[in-house]
Amino acid sequence: MKGTIFVELIKMAEDAFGEDTVDDVLDKADLENGGAFTAVGNYPCSELVKIVVAFSEHSGISPEDLQRKFGHWIMDHFVENYPGFFKDKKDTFGLLEAVDGEIHVEVKKLYPDAELPKFTTERIAEDHLEMVYTSPRPLVEFCHGMIEASLERFNEAADIQRCPVAAQADSAKFDITLTKKAGKAA
Ligand code: HEM
Repeated sequence: MKGTIFVELIKMAEDAFGEDTVDDVLDKADLENGGAFTAVGNYPCSELVKIVVAFSEHSGISPEDLQRKFGHWIMDHFVENYPGFFKDKKDTFGLLEAVDGEIHVEVKKLYPDAELPKFTTERIAEDHLEMVYTSPRPLVEFCHGMIEASLERFNEAADIQRCPVAAQADSAKFDITLTKKAGKAA
């Protein structure tokens, strides 16, 4: 997993808990490289999971909630650093439908060693999207946070139901029904 992702997670933690606490928590987290991550490095996803668990134990916030918060945080980071991917997107569904076939394709060109999830989407109705997330990495809550952050970005709101996918243990389906659309009330 890309070092930028680790760097951002640590920034989020510093923002929430302060630098000294973050240093303490990372010291105690039994990380392979002692907690020194650079944006250009590559690190196992299991290290990210260890960091999340360490901050969860420190703060009492569940690892699931921390992953979701991190989804929101990283979206702000992407908007700032990759504005081109957002320029022609008018709403949440337009953005989510572009992740697999467009955005992550470009990400892979920029970073050939990026480990990206797989998405399929199906527009059930104008206000209803099904999005199936498939990844060997345990980041479904992070994904959920990114979907929520996408909604916020377009000033939309939705009911998001998540369910497992039969016979596909590494997948989850997000059933997203808009309750507020861009530029309109409910
Ligand atoms: C401009 C927008 C985006 C950019 C630049 C971007 C880029 C990236 C990058 C660099 C990674 C890390 C890969 C690695 O560390 O090896 C990643 C992972 C991921 N991205 Fe995106 N992404 C974007 C939008 C989205 C959106 C909208 C979603 C959600 C629905 C999403 C879902 C994910 C997930 C869940 C992962 C974690 C990897 C996994 O679960 O297997 N991304 N993305």
